[in-house]
Amino acid sequence: MALFRKGTRLLTVASVILLLEAVAHTMGAVAPLPEDPAVQDLVRAMRDLHTPLGLGMEPSAWDISRGLTFTMTVTLLLMGVLGLAIPSAARGDGRVVRVTAGTLLGANLAMLAIWCIYRVPPPLTFQAILTPILLLATFGGRASPDAAPTAAGRQRPARQGAALVACAAGALLGSARAAEAQVTSEPRAREPIVGLPCEGCEGVFDRLPASLSSVARIAPADEPGEPMRIEGTVYDADGHPAPGIIVYAYHTNAHGVYPEDERAEGTAGRRHGRLRGWARTDEQGRYRFDSIRPASYPDGRTPAHVHMHVIEPGRCTYYIDSIHFADDPRLSPEERAGDPDARGGNGVVRPEHDDRGIWVVRRDITLGEGVPDYAACGERP
Ligand SMILES: [Fe+2]
Repeated sequence: MALFRKGTRLLTVASVILLLEAVAHTMGAVAPLPEDPAVQDLVRAMRDLHTPLGLGMEPSAWDISRGLTFTMTVTLLLMGVLGLAIPSAARGDGRVVRVTAGTLLGANLAMLAIWCIYRVPPPLTFQAILTPILLLATFGGRASPDAAPTAAGRQRPARQGAALVACAAGALLGSARAAEAQVTSEPRAREPIVGLPCEGCEGVFDRLPASLSSVARIAPADEPGEPMRIEGTVYDADGHPAPGIIVYAYHTNAHGVYPEDERAEGTAGRRHGRLRGWARTDEQGRYRFDSIRPASYPDGRTPAHVHMHVIEPGRCTYYIDSIHFADDPRLSPEERAGDPDARGGNGVVRPEHDDRGIWVVRRDITLGEGVPDYAACGERP
């Protein structure tokens, strides 16, 4: 049990690992972002999503993320420095070492739980390595080197060993779950297209991001044009909000052109242009796109519109009636009144300005409404 009496040495090792983790964490945070368009789109959406937090502060989701990232850097550095400084100042006092190690152990277990819940493998690995070391530093040094071994004393290492094995197994299980989560976010099976003919429907899968939010951006924040927000709720045939439905939309730019999307992999995706986006409805069936108001085609006759598609995960995909704008003079009176057989419900919206001068349109969707062969979608999973 000589190892168990080396509490100071173990605490030093753990502290150095914490400092190394702080360095690795910071380097990862400041490293250039991957070229992956999905990542770039996500960061752009985070930068554009601002949340009022009081005191006149309205940080973006990206600002909050960076703040939390560097808070973690400071926390890890502080833990490492305290783990080195306190036992040194106490001249190796065993009780001080155990209390310091126990405090770091508590913080470490809390972080271990956080990384398990949010499935972040790199810090999870660091925390899994640190946990047994800090356990040994905290509880291993209690046995007196001169004391005669008692029955209880002989049982203690066995209990400690069992605790360490259970902890390590838990950490490894967490790592495995995290790895599994990474794998399952890889390319998904494509849902069958219903409501044929559906020219270009396969474009909904072209560079479909693995991770989706109920709020997404179509045009980048610096895209020329009038800012516009599309929002709505998706309902099932019974009128209940439908969570987890993927809504896909694309439209022209401020010149009425579908600007080329060089990143698209298929013909349909390229034809849809780069002003395209996906949102997954939240628990209340809501979705939202931030974009610009599209212009009519250069011919000047076609009403401005936003193409819309729906993916019901595990079931099917189909297009629904495009968004048309009731204040568009190119709409005929009949078109402006709306089509009673519209796919997914009426697509004619009435644009209004919000208090910041942003166009807001509401396009609610009823799943399957007016879609031929919708029954081919099959049962809901
Ligand atoms: Fe179009």
